[in-house]
Amino acid sequence: MSAPTHESTGTADPDEVREPPTGGAGAAPRLSDRYGRVATDLRVSLTDRCNLRCTYCMPEAGLPWLPKPTLLDDDEVVRLVGVAVELLGVREVRFTGGEPLLRPGLAGIIAAVAKLDPRPEISLTTNALGLDRLANTLVDAGLDRVNVSLDTLDPERFAALAKRDRLASTLRGLEAAAATGLAPVKVNTVLMRGVNDDEAPALLRFALEHGYQLRFIEQMPLDASGVWRREEMVTASEILGSLRKEFVLEPDPAHRGSAPAETWLVDGGPAKVGVIGSVTRPFCGDCDRTRLTADGQVRNCLFAQEETDLRSLVRAGADDEAIAERWQEAMWGKLPGHGIDDPSFLQPARPMSAIGG
Ligand code: 5AD
Ligand code: SF4
Repeated sequence: MSAPTHESTGTADPDEVREPPTGGAGAAPRLSDRYGRVATDLRVSLTDRCNLRCTYCMPEAGLPWLPKPTLLDDDEVVRLVGVAVELLGVREVRFTGGEPLLRPGLAGIIAAVAKLDPRPEISLTTNALGLDRLANTLVDAGLDRVNVSLDTLDPERFAALAKRDRLASTLRGLEAAAATGLAPVKVNTVLMRGVNDDEAPALLRFALEHGYQLRFIEQMPLDASGVWRREEMVTASEILGSLRKEFVLEPDPAHRGSAPAETWLVDGGPAKVGVIGSVTRPFCGDCDRTRLTADGQVRNCLFAQEETDLRSLVRAGADDEAIAERWQEAMWGKLPGHGIDDPSFLQPARPMSAIGG
């Protein structure tokens, strides 16, 4: 096969390889695209529902939820993850939502995915509500790591921001995660102007005290109400500027690879803080992700306008090879970048809660 062999330069000549890789004799098929990137990190949304309403993600009244019959059942999820891992070279599987802890079969899904060969790394992006009760079960099932979303340490702000007064519960979930073998726990923070943009140093101090790895994420145009404004976004450089008022930050000498976070050593290290400049410092050229929605659609990018339907294929009785081939075709069409800065940029029809982070 003529698939590109370099992992992630993002600079390959798009005409260099004209056909999607077929994974011909001897070569393991992979999820490559025409720009030389190879997806090895799968994000699976297990539900579009959530028990919070973070303003950058979901309207307070919620959204029309995906109809139950369109959702993949637990066996279908495991089947598709199995195709990605065992036939297509995926090495990391992250479960997201909405809120993945709301999925009743979560522990069973994790246990089945942990039995795949080769066993992928299994993680969860969660708001941690209820994680204190579930952490042990999930770790026993095979969960390796969690990323917890936390945007403020002030209970009133939390209630204003997430429309639910649940800060204490998120903090309990975080502590339980760290105490249950899921350390080092990562914490994701989105700063919003005039809402919590003064809290960067306090959040970092809190993370340092507890041994959490904090990462700030620039707000992306993925809110359900479409009110995101580039001018209002708190940028990576503003975040760094605000942290530098209280901490000394030096570039982390460790290799960044395909990780979206630029990391900085805090006060000489070894503690670090990450800043994910999704909008102002895009890392699309190094992207190694593929996404599966709760209703069984492959998205080759967070911002993709098109999806590829694997649910119908599964329900029509397709074999694993046919599913793998369709997935490869979906990735082959991945665009070089998200294009947020293009005048023609269109926000995807699905909000973040229905794509998965
Ligand atoms: N921009 C940036 N990050 C977002 N998240 C959710 N919506 C957005 C957005 N519009 C974050 C959440 C969570 C992860 C899934 O992505 O805070 O940590
Ligand atoms: Fe729920 Fe996460 Fe969206 Fe907040 S960002 S509403 S926690 S899915």
